[in-house]
Amino acid sequence: MPPSIYVTRRFADSGIKALQAKGYRVEIYPKDEIIPRKELLKKVKGVDALLSLLTDKIDEEVFAAAGPSLKIVANYAVGFDNIDLAAANKRGIEVTNAPHDKVNEAVAEHTFALIICLAHRIAEADQFSKAEKYTGWSPTLLIGTDLSGKTLGIVGAGRIGASAARRGVKGFGMKLVYSDMRKNPEIEKELGAKRVTFEKLLQTSDFVSLHVPLLPSTRHLISTKQLAMMKKSAFLINTARGPIVDEKALLRALETKKIAGAGLDVFECEPAIDCDIRDNLELRSFPNAVLTPHIASATIEAREAMSMIAANNIIAVLSGKKPLNPAK
Ligand code: DGY
Repeated sequence: MPPSIYVTRRFADSGIKALQAKGYRVEIYPKDEIIPRKELLKKVKGVDALLSLLTDKIDEEVFAAAGPSLKIVANYAVGFDNIDLAAANKRGIEVTNAPHDKVNEAVAEHTFALIICLAHRIAEADQFSKAEKYTGWSPTLLIGTDLSGKTLGIVGAGRIGASAARRGVKGFGMKLVYSDMRKNPEIEKELGAKRVTFEKLLQTSDFVSLHVPLLPSTRHLISTKQLAMMKKSAFLINTARGPIVDEKALLRALETKKIAGAGLDVFECEPAIDCDIRDNLELRSFPNAVLTPHIASATIEAREAMSMIAANNIIAVLSGKKPLNPAK
């Protein structure tokens, strides 16, 4: 019997075709929705590989349901906080993620889409125009702020953070500071980036952009204390993972004008935009909060690349080789 692979949702086809070309039996959850937990637990039984999405919680219950045949979980994402790595390791199941230059570029571009949108008040201007409020040019209408000469603070100077940094310096003439546990000599040399403490970055940046993975140590990395350290004129951008920002604290900071605005592609209680709407504080009520529904890597090029990476990791492991992108 050829190996069997379960795919939890239909997406970019190239990877699926590559798996089918190997003669594997590939089954895909047929509906365009997050696979219900019960269905996932039923479908993984006896599979050799699971191609999962960041919306699937992959834990011991899933591994137990799959049984000893399961050799690899290939996550169709760069992040893998949805997978219990320790439980996978215990069972000797490989876990892989899907990093690629195309993903770095897509997310870095989206970071700048949010930055420009905030700085030039594009979302507000769009709504204003569509509401037919424009009655004639005015020197004070929807005044924004330049990027040129401003300081971009990159929190986490890995692949995606460095891509965003490059765009800021080379594309928009921004100054660059970054905070990271590790030095990034490449961006220091190439972009004149200065590594500073996280606190210093918050105090000096005009745009603070988050590019760290979600870990116990980065949950609520940005909360009341950190927001209070930011300049009143500064913007916060999150294209990483929602729970890195304490959303309640962010709402308070927006309400009390502690910061100038926020650009968010990810949310603490995703897919809910707001965790709860007690106190009548909702992200949507702030014109200076620009929200996108976790689409930073949603370009054709990035999605195709991620699909091929997931497939190639499965092919490697099912051929008895080491995974190409072990999650670690
Ligand atoms: C990732 O890859 O982790 C993104 O959040 C989704 O594509």
